[in-house]
Amino acid sequence: MKSRGALLWKPGTMSGWSVEDIEVGSPKSGEAMVKLAASGICHSDDHLDTGDLPLYFEGPIMGGHEGAGVVVEVGEGVTDLEVGDHIILSFLPSCGRCAYCVTGRTSLCVLSAGCMSGMAPDGTKRVFAGDVGVGCNSYLGTFSQYVTVPTASIVKVDKDLPLDKACLIGCGVSTGWGSAVYAADTKPGDTVVVVGTGGVGMSAVQGARMAGARHIIALDTVEFKRQEAPKFGATHVAGSFEEAQRILDNLRPGDVGADRVIVTCSVGYGSLLNPSLDLTRKGGTCVFTNMAPLEQRDVELDLFSLSMMGKRLQGTLYGNTNARVDIPRLANAYMDGVLKLDEMITRTYGLDEINTAFKDMREGRNLRGVIMYDG
Ligand SMILES: NC(=O)c1ccc[n+]([C@@H]2O[C@H](COP(=O)([O-])OP(=O)(O)OC[C@H]3O[C@@H](n4cnc5c(N)ncnc54)[C@H](O)[C@@H]3O)[C@@H](O)[C@H]2O)c1
Ligand SMILES: [Zn+2]
Ligand SMILES: [Zn+2]
Repeated sequence: MKSRGALLWKPGTMSGWSVEDIEVGSPKSGEAMVKLAASGICHSDDHLDTGDLPLYFEGPIMGGHEGAGVVVEVGEGVTDLEVGDHIILSFLPSCGRCAYCVTGRTSLCVLSAGCMSGMAPDGTKRVFAGDVGVGCNSYLGTFSQYVTVPTASIVKVDKDLPLDKACLIGCGVSTGWGSAVYAADTKPGDTVVVVGTGGVGMSAVQGARMAGARHIIALDTVEFKRQEAPKFGATHVAGSFEEAQRILDNLRPGDVGADRVIVTCSVGYGSLLNPSLDLTRKGGTCVFTNMAPLEQRDVELDLFSLSMMGKRLQGTLYGNTNARVDIPRLANAYMDGVLKLDEMITRTYGLDEINTAFKDMREGRNLRGVIMYDG
């Protein structure tokens, strides 16, 4: 199938995305081809361009991992999907068979280990630019209208769900919501701080609200994000860690801190960890969701308080969600008016405007930018 795709020919060099003609292969056994309605712009794709997430394979990569669309072809032996099905792509696949999947931790599925290999799970490539094989982010590559992907990455949804909004559930919304609900285990009445309220963080604010948090402090250095945060459930906003600490001191005199602190900044620098743990109260949980530069090793950490105050430091992939359960759950929450998606989309773009979309993201102009296919 002929398509247009946004590629990085030299990942890690800040080259920006090159939009060009590509050929997307037909689905093989265990795969389907999907015509996407839209793709969200998640910060994780930017790490490929900046080099915070280095790649160890030859050749270009097609970005994008937050898509929703309609099945147009299924591979041999695929029985659980048919042409015309509406689907959301899960940025992490779940095989349904490995030890992680069968114990309800599908975000850790063994298949996800190959997500950045540039290959389909069978070790071959599906996308070509001329004669050159193109790797696809997370087996997906949603910066093309047509994608051929493993069925392990596909979750069927109801046909009345607006796909151009629902694409966000495929990564950012699930990750943020799950960071609050599962990874932080927010309880009714809790005080929660979300550090970095972009696409993932604003979804964590929504998750905390849905879990019944009493106080939700949105901490972001960008004023626009602070202005938007109350729409999603934030009860307070702060522009710095110091301001967040002052708010906590006022809300809970003598109690020094938040029950849950969820860190969802653009890049997971080691310097964010200690200030975030400082905001976490005795016995509280600090969740580190943001992606750190892969080769970063330096972290300054108050280990005394970590153990002596019984704090829990929790990493998370995909907010510990189980895509096959949580994607339909979040789609229903949107249709019921409980989860806000429309308000998360600040601006839409054509694929040819993808570099503007990333610039807008870096400059803090968007909660989420979305690439729309077919206008
Ligand atoms: N763990 C996972 O499974 C997973 C999944 C998706 C995304 N991510 C990661 O989550 C992070 C957030 O992604 P996003 O798409 O929401 O990005 P985004 O660009 O939409 O939002 C990041 C926000 O952090 C804010 N910020 C940056 N530095 C800050 C600081 N020092 N203090 C306060 N606020 C700060 C920015 O202003 C912005 O609002 C990225 O690192 C991304 O790669 C992780
Ligand atoms: Zn993402
Ligand atoms: Zn699995």
